This record gives sequence, C-alpha cells and structure tokens, in this order.
Amino acid sequence: MTFYASFGDKFRANIGAVAAMRRDVGLAAGLVLAVRLVISFTRNQLSYGRDRLYDIRTGVDTVHDRGVGAEYPGDVAHLDGEYYERVTKSDFKRVMRRAQVPVQDFTFIDLGCGKGAALLLAREYGFQELVGVEYNARLADIAQKNLATLRSGGEESPFVSVITADACDFSFPDAPSLVFMYNPFGRATMDVVLGNLSRSLTESPRPVVVVYMNPVHAEALDQCAALERVAGEPQHQTLGRRLRRLGHRYGGIDWVVYRATTG
Ligand SMILES: C[S@@+](CC[C@H](N)C(=O)[O-])C[C@H]1O[C@@H](n2cnc3c(N)ncnc32)[C@H](O)[C@@H]1O
Repeated sequence: MTFYASFGDKFRANIGAVAAMRRDVGLAAGLVLAVRLVISFTRNQLSYGRDRLYDIRTGVDTVHDRGVGAEYPGDVAHLDGEYYERVTKSDFKRVMRRAQVPVQDFTFIDLGCGKGAALLLAREYGFQELVGVEYNARLADIAQKNLATLRSGGEESPFVSVITADACDFSFPDAPSLVFMYNPFGRATMDVVLGNLSRSLTESPRPVVVVYMNPVHAEALDQCAALERVAGEPQHQTLGRRLRRLGHRYGGIDWVVYRATTG
C-alpha cells in the first residue's frame, strides 16, 4: 500500500503514473488510466465519507491508521505486514454478494482485522461466529472496543473474538469458514498462512471460501493446490501489471474468491 504525505504528493505521483503508462503502453492506455484514477478517487472519497459518518453516528473508530513502527511486534515470522486501511462498506457488500456462502453455518475469519471494520460489517450477515486476527495490539484493542460499543448499544451480535497474534501462528478452526483478507501482508506471510490452511484442510476437509481483496499476491493462492479460484478477476488485466498495481493505491478495487478443493 502506498501512503503519501499530502494530497499534492499523491496527485504528482498519479500524474507521473499516467505519463509512464502513456510512454510504456500508449496514449489510449494513459487516458484510460487517467479516467480510472479520477473515478476511483471520487468513488472512494464518497465511500470513506459514508463510513466516517457511520463511525460518528455509532461511536466506533475505524479510520485509517498507519500506526507507528514501535507498535508492531518484534517477534513476527515475517516483517511484511501492511498498514491498517479499512475495507469500505460498499466494497465489502460487493464481494460478499459474489462469495455466496450459507452464512449461518460459517465462521467469518478476518486475517489482519485492524480496527475490526470488516468484523463490524460481517456482523450484519448472520455468520455463526466471527474471528479477527491482528498482530498490532493497539489496533486489536480498538477492534474489541468497537465491537463492545455496538453490543452496548443493544445490537445483537454473533460470538466474536479478536485474537492478538501473527497470522502465521493462527490455527484455523475445524469449521466451515469464510477467510477474509484485505491485502494484509506480503508473500512470505501469505505462504505460511496458505501452508497452515492447506494442512488444516487435509486433516479436516470442509467447506472453506477465501475472499481476498486488493489481491496483490493472488498468484500465491492460484498456486495453492488446496484452493481453486471461483470468482473475480483483477481489473485491467488486459492493460498489464502496472495498472493493477496502481489500482491497489485506492484500495478495495480488485478482489478474488477461492474455495477449498477438498470441501
Ligand atoms: C489493510 S488492513 C485490513 C484491515 C481489515 N481487514 C479491514 O478490512 O478493514 C491490514 C491489517 O493487517 C494487519 N497485519 C499485517 N500483517 C499481519 C500479520 N502478520 N498478522 C496479523 N495481522 C497483520 C495490519 O496491522 C493491518 O491492520
């Protein structure tokens, strides 16, 4: 994920990207990218605005948070974690429509749950249980508080747990699950997580669906024998990797859904 010190920096970076696209791929690709960046920017600002209003109205805190280096545990297996950026409600709804799982039998697991925005949204779907895994203790604490705030406001909620841990150390429960990831970490951690998931599926075959938003490391899942891709295409595939990488800056644009081959 790329963060910019100011709007000006971001604007200049995007102008540079459009110029590079025009030079490397052609004028049409440069124009497509420019239009796409404007649409994405507008759409995301509206979406973030709506989510911020939700925070204010309900008293929770899910705003983006870069944290500080010292907050990140020193004993993680691989230091390739991304900063906290929340999934927007509109992107979450869009991908959940495509995941199509019988939620009442499923556990929702968010690997890298941050302040718990996806858990808060998943509460409304009727999952049997919700589990968040977050290695930054401060963010995990905020996620707990957010869930408690909604509960104290009288909202019904399924059983929810937020586990403060490195995703590499997480043991997948022996239950039908929807594993949600919003670009939480790099390839090294992803490989460990997929190894753990594959072993768990071999020991206990069951329905598991993996929803991966902003799927920077989709290749790792494509290569995982325990999973098969059932929906989603990183956008702009035809225009190449550079466009796809640019899409990631705006978050939640691309998504892919996999299901366990053993379930
Ligand atoms: C892009 S945010 C996604 C937040 C949340 N899933 C959502 O959709 O709103 C990625 C989160 O993953 C966490 N993270 C990164 N590496 C991790 C790891 N190895 N174990 C657990 N959490 C991790 C980060 O601290 C951050 O909060």
